[in-house]
Amino acid sequence: MLLPILLFLFFLKEFSTTQQCQSRRYDNDGTVCVCNSTYCDTIPRPQKVKPPQLLLYTSNKSGLRFHQTSTTFTSSKTKKQIVIDGSRQFQTILGWGGAFTDSTGININSLPKGAQTNLLKSYFSEDGIEYNLCRVPMGGSDFSVRAYTYDDGPPDPSLLNFELKEEDFLYKIPYIQKASNLTDDLWLFATPWAAPKWMKTNNDFVKLGFIRKPMFQSWANYFVKFLDEYRKRGIKFWGVTTGNEPTNGWLLFGDLEVVAWPAWLIGEWIENNLGPTIRSSNHSDIKIMVLDDQRAYLPWYVVKALTNNVSRGYVDGIAVHWYIDEYLPPVVLSTTHKIFPDKFLLSTEASITDDGAAVKLGSWKRGEKYSVDIIQNLQNWVSGWVDWNMVLDLQGGPTYIDNYLDSPIIVNVKAGEFYKQPTFYHLGHFSKFIPRGSVRIYSKLCLKNVKHVAFRRPDNGTVIIILNRNKKIVPLTLNDSSRGTAHVELSEESITTIVYW
Ligand SMILES: *[C@@H]1O[C@H](CO)[C@@H](O)[C@H](O)[C@H]1NC(C)=O
Ligand SMILES: *[C@@H]1O[C@H](CO)[C@@H](O)[C@H](O)[C@H]1NC(C)=O
Ligand SMILES: *[C@@H]1O[C@H](CO)[C@@H](O)[C@H](O)[C@H]1NC(C)=O
Ligand SMILES: *[C@@H]1O[C@H](CO)[C@@H](O)[C@H](O)[C@H]1NC(C)=O
Ligand SMILES: *[C@@H]1O[C@H](CO)[C@@H](O)[C@H](O)[C@H]1NC(C)=O
Ligand SMILES: *[C@@H]1O[C@H](CO)[C@@H](O)[C@H](O)[C@H]1NC(C)=O
Ligand SMILES: *[C@@H]1O[C@H](CO)[C@@H](O)[C@H](O)[C@H]1NC(C)=O
Repeated sequence: MLLPILLFLFFLKEFSTTQQCQSRRYDNDGTVCVCNSTYCDTIPRPQKVKPPQLLLYTSNKSGLRFHQTSTTFTSSKTKKQIVIDGSRQFQTILGWGGAFTDSTGININSLPKGAQTNLLKSYFSEDGIEYNLCRVPMGGSDFSVRAYTYDDGPPDPSLLNFELKEEDFLYKIPYIQKASNLTDDLWLFATPWAAPKWMKTNNDFVKLGFIRKPMFQSWANYFVKFLDEYRKRGIKFWGVTTGNEPTNGWLLFGDLEVVAWPAWLIGEWIENNLGPTIRSSNHSDIKIMVLDDQRAYLPWYVVKALTNNVSRGYVDGIAVHWYIDEYLPPVVLSTTHKIFPDKFLLSTEASITDDGAAVKLGSWKRGEKYSVDIIQNLQNWVSGWVDWNMVLDLQGGPTYIDNYLDSPIIVNVKAGEFYKQPTFYHLGHFSKFIPRGSVRIYSKLCLKNVKHVAFRRPDNGTVIIILNRNKKIVPLTLNDSSRGTAHVELSEESITTIVYW
């Protein structure tokens, strides 16, 4: 009697819990999925299928989300082929995620409790898109309601007055803890925007100010203090970057908090201060990433920063942002990989504002932009892709310097709802199906407006993601010499993830 009951419960769990997207259309080119305290769409993990079966998950502009179908490897002979070769392998995946900004926490906090849970599950749980690598601003950023650091009093080189702020306790730590509880292994990395004014040559959070030489060691100690304070609250970090967008110091407009670093000077600081301080601390195995800025500075900034073998030895990875990717070919990433084959490349920030609009509810085009960028990065040795704010409000904030942007999840506080944008699902077509430790494998297809990338998962499954930007159905033959060929059809304006074992 027990066995049938257990089996029944198992099937109940497997088949009855998938909730469909509650689609809503605004005035843009696509749809959002609406969630509230009692309802939110889910997507279960793919269940292993046996050869010759393969699973297909499709989302399309007209509103389909992670729609599962299956087919088999039987001979197919359409003219267009996507060729997969699992014996040719490239980089290993570190993870996928977004940032626990103050604004993200403020927006989650503004929802009713049930909706908060549904939101965190959407990003982190087994029934969501399974984020596992997230960024945490070390102090404030432009997505805060004020400018601050952890030591804003009078000059304090020994950091005796260093302390976490209200924002950490209300908007970051609680949600990081809840997210950690929902995932197997959430990796976090921290990034500072501003340094305390008294450490800087211009005595200001913004514009062209460097860390004063006598403060080099204090600024390195500041990183370790932050890691210590979070560890006391049970939060362990996987990595740090040397600072957000060090070249913003040279921007003549805007009020972005920044520590400006010329390449040669940051190399010196890593060699003499940050590197030895981190490695001799209780966080000695933490990953150190340099750059954390636009692709335009590759490879020269990193080459200059790491000319010295000592600074090079301290650095594990190179962090890149997406903001001018549309204008610069991604091949600079591969060039950088060739120069530094032992350093991983990680995409650490992306977000959209275009056509004069921050939030555009339902924009499929913005989802496509995310996918195009992710695929280009992955095809050029990048090991993961981390979005910017995970949650913003209807205006694209809060941001105390009015730097409004879009986000994959938008909250509508009045309605007690949140909206999962096409960018959420586009990112999910990667993050859900490509677990940490997956390795990119060779894939080839030459077809206008179709992009693709393929992986071998740690469980030996093969994953292929194909973006079809054509306004028509595209029939294809999938050709994996270890399996044979299969016929697949890409829905118009769609993204498809194919999985088989
Ligand atoms: C939540 O969403 C579900 C599904 O759309 C709907 O049936 C329900 O009425 C909503 N609840 C509230 C409180 O709006
Ligand atoms: C995380 O899970 C543990 C164990 O189930 C629980 O005691 C704790 O309250 C949870 N923490 C949060 C922040 O949800
Ligand atoms: C590491 O942590 C332990 C226990 O909290 C502490 O006693 C020790 O001083 C720390 N070591 C360093 C190098 O900070
Ligand atoms: C760095 O190390 C390599 C190999 O050990 C050596 O050939 C090179 O001269 C060193 N460069 C510097 C700047 O020390
Ligand atoms: C994956 O395949 C390799 C070789 O084909 C095998 O050694 C390994 O055990 C497999 N791993 C899993 C998780 O099945
Ligand atoms: C599959 O691709 C391989 C490599 O390009 C090619 O040699 C082979 O002929 C293709 N198979 C079919 C059935 O077209
Ligand atoms: C999206 O997919 C659904 C289901 O396959 C299909 O009915 C619909 O026509 C598709 N939309 C477009 C624009 O292709």
